[in-house]
Amino acid sequence: MQRHLSLLFLLAGLAVQASAQKTLPGSRGGKEPVADKGIVFQGDGVDRAPGPHSNAAGARLAPFIAGTHRALPDPGSIPKGHLGDNIRLGLQIFRDTPRYASAYVGNLLSCSDCHLQDGTTAYSSPLVGVPGLFPMYNKRAGRVITFEDRIQECFTRSENGRPLPYRSRELAAIVAYIQWLSRGLPVGRVLRGRGLVRLPHLEGDPVRGAGIYEQQCVVCHLANGAGNPPIVPPLWGRNSFNDGAGMSHVAQMAAFVKHNMPQTHPGTLTPQQAFDVAAYVDSKPRPKFNPRYAAY
Ligand code: HEC
Ligand code: HEC
Repeated sequence: MQRHLSLLFLLAGLAVQASAQKTLPGSRGGKEPVADKGIVFQGDGVDRAPGPHSNAAGARLAPFIAGTHRALPDPGSIPKGHLGDNIRLGLQIFRDTPRYASAYVGNLLSCSDCHLQDGTTAYSSPLVGVPGLFPMYNKRAGRVITFEDRIQECFTRSENGRPLPYRSRELAAIVAYIQWLSRGLPVGRVLRGRGLVRLPHLEGDPVRGAGIYEQQCVVCHLANGAGNPPIVPPLWGRNSFNDGAGMSHVAQMAAFVKHNMPQTHPGTLTPQQAFDVAAYVDSKPRPKFNPRYAAY
């Protein structure tokens, strides 16, 4: 809610700025769209009808099973005591990672910038029900990884940071929060809306993408891609995700953008437009992944 209000104020300011700024952001062009480097799209491949498990807790869980979930379950239902404190810290880290897990973050992105509505929105890689799917084989790592390992990947790549100690309070808090989100869900069941939407494999054209960016994105993410964190996250430059992140692959960003952006009227771009604008964003500079962390 707060973010949407602040966005309104921001937009009022940006509208003025945008109309004064007529120059098209220059495209660097050239670069071939990156092929899928081995990250599996979980997508909506495993749509299953509500099974025998959707009974008592049904009302709360139904939207998760239908893939229509958008909002955080009532934070008032977070338990009291030590566990509750951990869950609340996990939620704070999720919403403002650079502040609450500062030692491990190298940019200005929070988990919730990509995992929308505190990690609950379908097709923005929601984390509801995900802990119960681990340990699982991970193509990028080439081995079976734990849920904690998967979180580390987003720290070293999406957060352009470094791995957390496995016994750190922060990692325990994030896990507690996501387990709380997933309470009552059957272990091992893939929910509809996991991952990102599935798109046909298209070639993105960064030159066309520059025009789409100017019309549909620049008002919030700005011509230099820096956004206005923590309200609008950066898309490139030193405060964004690094070149090892899932979002740095054109196909994955296109799938994210297709379903979730532009924030005020998501779902309005065609798959081709989503690929074009992703190719444009991908042609811009960003931090390099530290290969020392490839083990995570
Ligand atoms: C720049 C965007 C971005 C940020 C920031 C980010 N992630 Fe992710 N995350 C992704 C993408 C993209 C995927 C993979 C989506 C797909 O293809 O299914 C992912 C996947 C995951 C998964 C595995 C989900 C699954 O269904 O298997 C977990 C767990 C996760 N992220 C946790 C986090 C946490 C915790 C944070 C904050 C510390 C975070 N991420 C920050 C983009 C991001
Ligand atoms: C109305 C403002 C607004 C517009 C317009 C907009 N975005 Fe976003 N974008 C956001 C906000 C805010 C977030 C953080 C997630 C959220 O709260 O919805 C975000 C998140 C993102 C992310 C994931 C986080 C990151 O920094 O990588 C990507 C990628 C993205 N936007 C791309 C785009 C693209 C491409 C367009 C144009 C097609 C666009 N956005 C248009 C506001 C906007």
